[in-house]
Amino acid sequence: MATTGILFLKFIFLLTLYAFVVDGACNAGEWRCANGDCIEQEALCDGTYHCNDQSDESKENCLRTYCPRYAFRCSYGACIRKSAECDGNKDCVDNSDELQCTKEELPQTNCSGDEDNNFQCDSGHCISEYNVCDGEAHCSDKSDETLKRCLKTTCPSYSYRCAYGACISKRAVCNGIHDCIDGSDEVGCDTPRPPIQPTSGSVSPGKNCALPSSNGLFAKDTETNEIIRFGGFLKSGSSYDYQCPKNHILLGALKDICNGGELLSASNRITPTCSRYCNHQILRKVTTQAVCKYKKNTINCNDYILPGTTADIRCQYGYEEPVTQVHSITCLESGDWDNQPYPCIPTCGSTPLAQKPFIYGGYTTTITNIPWQAAIYKRNAVGRYTHICGGSIVTAKLVVTAAHCLWDRQRHEAMHKSLFTVGVGKTRRDYYIEDADYTPQFSNISEFHIPLYFAADDLSYVADIAVLVLNNAIIFKNFIVPICWERQSTVNKEIESNVIGKIAGWGKDETGEASEFLKFIDLESISKKDCKTRVPNYETSITADKFCVKSDDLNNSICDGDSGGGFAVKKMNNKYYLEGVVSTGLKPPEQACGGDSYTTFTNVRHHIELIGDLEKANRVY
Ligand SMILES: *[C@@H]1O[C@H](CO)[C@@H](O)[C@H](O)[C@H]1NC(C)=O
Ligand SMILES: *[C@@H]1O[C@H](CO)[C@@H](O)[C@H](O)[C@H]1NC(C)=O
Ligand SMILES: *[C@@H]1O[C@H](CO)[C@@H](O)[C@H](O)[C@H]1NC(C)=O
Repeated sequence: MATTGILFLKFIFLLTLYAFVVDGACNAGEWRCANGDCIEQEALCDGTYHCNDQSDESKENCLRTYCPRYAFRCSYGACIRKSAECDGNKDCVDNSDELQCTKEELPQTNCSGDEDNNFQCDSGHCISEYNVCDGEAHCSDKSDETLKRCLKTTCPSYSYRCAYGACISKRAVCNGIHDCIDGSDEVGCDTPRPPIQPTSGSVSPGKNCALPSSNGLFAKDTETNEIIRFGGFLKSGSSYDYQCPKNHILLGALKDICNGGELLSASNRITPTCSRYCNHQILRKVTTQAVCKYKKNTINCNDYILPGTTADIRCQYGYEEPVTQVHSITCLESGDWDNQPYPCIPTCGSTPLAQKPFIYGGYTTTITNIPWQAAIYKRNAVGRYTHICGGSIVTAKLVVTAAHCLWDRQRHEAMHKSLFTVGVGKTRRDYYIEDADYTPQFSNISEFHIPLYFAADDLSYVADIAVLVLNNAIIFKNFIVPICWERQSTVNKEIESNVIGKIAGWGKDETGEASEFLKFIDLESISKKDCKTRVPNYETSITADKFCVKSDDLNNSICDGDSGGGFAVKKMNNKYYLEGVVSTGLKPPEQACGGDSYTTFTNVRHHIELIGDLEKANRVY
């Protein structure tokens, strides 16, 4: 057998060095600084300046950032790793991670897991640490207001310290009410006391203002960084930043000034409050989308979701409702959603009808004709991506291609996953050129899987199939749709003859050069027996998991660069199914494409367990 006779459908690239011009806008995954520079999206609000104008670390741009539980939130909104809090380094640009480090660490208790009620009473109940030593008993056994507990408390200078150590409002002293649970605020008040005066000599003696009380709201003196907590007073003439405990959002005034006994916020009727909010991540799924309403107004679901907000759940484009679906969910006072939406189910294999006329060597097409077509790119030594193969989208996270596309034939092993990237929604072959009408999506791959018995070295190319797992889930559009595949392992594994399949690619056309535009052709399968008879030299390449396709049209054939593309067959339900993956061409390498040519396809029905298992392991919600 003349093994040299196998024309490996390899890839010949024209190193077309197109300049990558960006007109003002930033690329996907990038964020635009106020001065127009582009930075990586991840660099936004990360505690370090990346924009020259510092706009990436500003209150305006970061205040609405969500920090995950494992992160620390800088006072202007940026998220840094939690371990950076109080580590002696300035990790937030405003150093807010190092400002509240004297706080007494609560001992590890059964309440430690609950961020909001993380203080454990002796009785075992969990209450908020903000309610400890505030003069009022919150634990049923009053263990939050004891001498032992409160002795070490330091009260802000403008609050009153009860005999056992709790801090209460100075106004509460001698008002006839026991505001300290030991009544020490009412001891020795036989004669009414004069109005409370500030004791600090340097401040002009204006009236101070009580800190508004709301779910653990506290204020920070912008000059001294002194923290005023519940029961404390804001000094007349000083300015303060308000802050809320974790899992709360600050509404109303962010800053305040006490002006002769009245808070600026109060006179502007924007009293600061700390409110719980619901996690919005549940609304940002791959398969579902939500429309959010708060007080009858439609709001952005990416904003803080306040209690009382309802979210109407719909399926994303390209998905349909599961049998049971929750259509509306509501954010409760507790900051929890009352229900969970179910993931929607992808609708595979459908194409819009528009089709452009025959041009040459196959139909030039828009991606809408082959919306499952993916382009596989390989990074070269200088970091530029060149097209190497085609592929087919089978789920939002999986793309099927040929194993030989990822194989290093010199080293007899698969190349490293980091060399490859996948584009979908591409009509243009060139990674750097986009079709004006369709915005492509790109993803690197987190892993790929090739059957262990893939045989490249004996040139039989058994099991020439690979499944790529994408880093970023694909967002389906009318020009980006997954292809269906037979999920039943009981179906007949053989592909009958005369089955017509749609094959797309950017391979060489009749000019001998790789096509700049995506093209497709319809070709028919032939029986294995026929195939072996007609191309006797390549009998061994027609392995059990392959089928043959013949092209006798000089202008229409599969050629170099088409590898990995799918054989898409329209079924009774009018949907396209992935039946094959372009593997090898059966003709001498010196012979050009076109004319009487035969191509083998890896029969996908032989490999559905691989795809099915990976689908399960990489579910999208
Ligand atoms: C925590 O809970 C466990 C089981 O309920 C109990 O045995 C243990 O004593 C508790 N620890 C504290 C510190 O209360
Ligand atoms: C893929 O990885 C490369 C190298 O790490 C990176 O430059 C590129 O931005 C990544 N592409 C995507 C779409 O994430
Ligand atoms: C192939 O293309 C050439 C020119 O591109 C055309 O003249 C010829 O008719 C085509 N052949 C077929 C079979 O379509």
